[in-house]
Amino acid sequence: MQEKINQYTAEINSFQSKNAEELESFRIRFLGTKGIIKDLFEEFKTVSSEDKRTFGKVLNEFKQLAEAKYQTLKDGSETDDNSSKSEQDLTLPGEGFEIGARHPLSLVRKEIIEIFKKLGFNVAEGPEVEDDWHNFSALNFPEEHPARDMQDTFFIKKGGEKGDIALRTHTSSVQVRMMEAGKPPFRAIMPGRVYRNEAISARAHCFFHQVEGLYIDENVSFADLKQTLFYFVQELFGEGTKVRFRPSYFPFTEPSAEMDISCSICKGDGCQFCKHSGWVEILGCGMVDPNVLENTNIDSKKYTGYAFGMGIERITNLKYQIKDLRLFSENDIRFLKQFQSEMI
Ligand code: PHE
Repeated sequence: MQEKINQYTAEINSFQSKNAEELESFRIRFLGTKGIIKDLFEEFKTVSSEDKRTFGKVLNEFKQLAEAKYQTLKDGSETDDNSSKSEQDLTLPGEGFEIGARHPLSLVRKEIIEIFKKLGFNVAEGPEVEDDWHNFSALNFPEEHPARDMQDTFFIKKGGEKGDIALRTHTSSVQVRMMEAGKPPFRAIMPGRVYRNEAISARAHCFFHQVEGLYIDENVSFADLKQTLFYFVQELFGEGTKVRFRPSYFPFTEPSAEMDISCSICKGDGCQFCKHSGWVEILGCGMVDPNVLENTNIDSKKYTGYAFGMGIERITNLKYQIKDLRLFSENDIRFLKQFQSEMI
């Protein structure tokens, strides 16, 4: 009996199944109801009682070996089966993935930048966390002046105290940095995110995006400003778009103006969007105040300049007739998908 078991053990150890049928015949041969193990247990009954102990152990170990072998081969063949299945399906089409779309604000920002680049403007960027000097003081906002309230500011507290660090309220801060760092002439636009402490609604948000512009050189006049903005508007909204300037106030420009364009939705006939006036405001602008030039060590007798600033959301609203600002930051795929055709 021991001899038989040795023989079978060798057979089991060297057994490899090539397919499910071979494995099944292995199971029947060793583990089946009329299989070898069953027979050996029958034979075991005839073993003398003093040999039963040793043989019982040997026989049990042999049974475990056969079962373990069967289980391993079975597990292996299952995984093999799966992999061979996927190999067979090589001709199936791939799963495919959806290509994303550019965010409408990115599309419009790109368009704005490209128009100004054609006019020789560079692109400048600066920090979103700013100090009081770059966001306010250098721009001629007097200390404690109510003009600071025009832009509700998120201050960053230092040790529980309201410090002079804040989230920038406009990208005019980048203009200050540029004027401080170099020498005129300057001709650049500053795109970026800005923050204001406002309750979120369809018409206001606590952050939005701006593109501001600055041009400083000898003999720059308001006429240059008008010409540049007129060209910009024709490029962005199409030829025939009318412009008008209304006097306004900003601490950093003198004179200051707000610019309206003929409503791009109703072409000036009057609609809900332009509140039936035919005009919509799109930006603020003016001649850089001499105090700002002096604050940044630029000779205000030699140099003059203009500045302007617009909200990208506002321009996007006009271009795509999006009425609720909140849509821009909700990441709703149904909204964003609509801009898919405007890729690249
Ligand atoms: N900085 C102004 C704002 O955020 C916009 C502006 C820029 C106005 C430059 C005039 C000149 O409202």
